[in-house]
Amino acid sequence: MTDTPRKVEHIIEPQLVIEGAGVLLRRSFGPSRANLFDPFLLFDHFAFNDPNEGPIRGFPMHPHRGIETFTYILEGNVRHRDSIGNAGVIGPGDVQWMTSGGGIMHEEMPARSPDGRVLGFQLWVNLPAALKMSQPRYQEVNSADIPQTESDGVSVRVVAGEYKGSRGPVTEIAAGPLYMEIALQPGAEIRLPVTPGHAAVAYLFEGEGLFGVEDNGDGEFVQAVRMIIFGDGDHLRVQAGPGSPARFMLMTGAPIREPIVPYGPFVMNTVEEIQQALDDLRNGTFVREGAAIPS
Ligand code: CO
Repeated sequence: MTDTPRKVEHIIEPQLVIEGAGVLLRRSFGPSRANLFDPFLLFDHFAFNDPNEGPIRGFPMHPHRGIETFTYILEGNVRHRDSIGNAGVIGPGDVQWMTSGGGIMHEEMPARSPDGRVLGFQLWVNLPAALKMSQPRYQEVNSADIPQTESDGVSVRVVAGEYKGSRGPVTEIAAGPLYMEIALQPGAEIRLPVTPGHAAVAYLFEGEGLFGVEDNGDGEFVQAVRMIIFGDGDHLRVQAGPGSPARFMLMTGAPIREPIVPYGPFVMNTVEEIQQALDDLRNGTFVREGAAIPS
């Protein structure tokens, strides 16, 4: 696997779905037993840029178990609160990494920026069986604390993992992910190492470019908005189109390689564990004692 460029394996056109209390999203993939993108379970893109869409209803209080969710906001904000005592606003450029572990209840309510826009992403990452019932945990990082590198028309914000000596502030995630926002000026190229065997996907939300560029210059030309799934290899190259920039999220992670049973906001390993989550919700034992939701 030395010096093997990762080629594009699939390109997914995100589908419009309605979630929460009536929020229109672009979903690239959702949790399924096939678990094709292990350790990644779901990727949603929320964008509300039309004032005619009216108020954004958001995601009122709901449970999660067995996963980590990662929210990255570029425009507008998301007000949130949860059962482990956190409350606040995720603003432009901020990130929130939530480890549901054995159980968390939280609320996520997007709001428009002054010019009426909302742009953000949510990624779900699986937890291994040994951590599915762990203590819930939460990491919030302000925009100013996310390292940004700029060189030769390549701009990279490193949220998790490492790029050219910059280390992302989100750490201790089971899947050992790399999570970066990348902006390429027209014609600019990024080449970065990716651990062989790890899943690698890119979400192109603006512009166009050549993805999975090989040594001979071949690659797959992709235009926004698309989810790109890469095959295996030890590095990955993307080149913006000659007349267009490209802006995308790049995510890689170690596959967990366990059977999964997804059910709504829960992703467990067996049907019995899903049944247990539903019983716990019904019996009021889903969230550990002593936890409180800030008002
Ligand atoms: Co949630």
